[in-house]
Amino acid sequence: SLAGLDLRAEIDALRKERNAVILAHYYQKPEIQDLADFVGDSLELSRKAANSSADVIAFCGVKFMAETAKILAPEKIVVLPDLNAGCSLEDSCPPEKFKAFREAHPDHMALTYINCSTEVKALSDIIVTSSSAESILAQIPADQKIIFGPDRHLGGYLSRKFNREMLLWPGVCIVHEAFSETELLKLKAQHPGAPVAAHPECPPSIIDHADYVGSTSGILSYAKTFPGDTLIVATEPHIIHQMEKALPEKTFIGAPGADGQCSCNVCPYMALNTLEKLYTALRDLTPRIEIEEGLRVQAKKSLDRMLDMAS
Ligand code: 13P
Ligand code: SF4
Repeated sequence: SLAGLDLRAEIDALRKERNAVILAHYYQKPEIQDLADFVGDSLELSRKAANSSADVIAFCGVKFMAETAKILAPEKIVVLPDLNAGCSLEDSCPPEKFKAFREAHPDHMALTYINCSTEVKALSDIIVTSSSAESILAQIPADQKIIFGPDRHLGGYLSRKFNREMLLWPGVCIVHEAFSETELLKLKAQHPGAPVAAHPECPPSIIDHADYVGSTSGILSYAKTFPGDTLIVATEPHIIHQMEKALPEKTFIGAPGADGQCSCNVCPYMALNTLEKLYTALRDLTPRIEIEEGLRVQAKKSLDRMLDMAS
């Protein structure tokens, strides 16, 4: 039993013993963010994994992120505290269907959001994250036809912003899809003048009311510079932990779902990781991410293009 263990101290000891690095996404629970060696967005976490000198990466995020770490750093042991930490965007895009879609549009390239399986990465030309998508899209010649998947909201946002048609895969993030425009407008009325920062995985009904749209790291930077004292945050609410730490004198309010609360916007996959599971993952070096070598090499091509093209 783990009862009575000082989990933070045990995790610290194991981190040293195993020469492990703990990487965490901004959507992780505060107690995990606080003991991680590095907290970041999807692009930053990929770069950290690729450049780390650790022998073990304990990835506190979801499976596609841990798989990305393993693709970029195959010599390292990559553990994910809970292997069931998936993603609705990954689930929306089965590789065989994506392959058939590509084959039906042979004159299109596949620009693909990192929130997908390793198999879909292997079927793609260039991977993007929400923080790199705009600069990468700007480098693709205007006459090049594009399939964008699996997030239709991010794809639609880019398409509108760049005035560029793309074939959109119909996936959504269940977390960002759950924000309610009606409830957001009520909240705005209660906090006149408070700006709204939104992640581009939000539907247009939310983006239309946003003063800033960007990745988690972009939203965090905006939170450090926005005018005023109250910010409405339309992304997974665990990121508010970093905002409150950096700016304790300001107020950050999670955008609401249909029930008027922001709790329905907690990512259920990210929430599967706990301190207990992180401890046992470091102790037992399991559950481990393993990827067949041919598939890994193929998936790495589209990820390397992203790392080369992202500013
Ligand atoms: P970013 O941290 O790259 O903005 O990604 C958000 C997200 O939904 C990750 O699952
Ligand atoms: Fe996937 Fe959305 Fe959860 Fe991110 S927040 S892991 S996109 S379900």
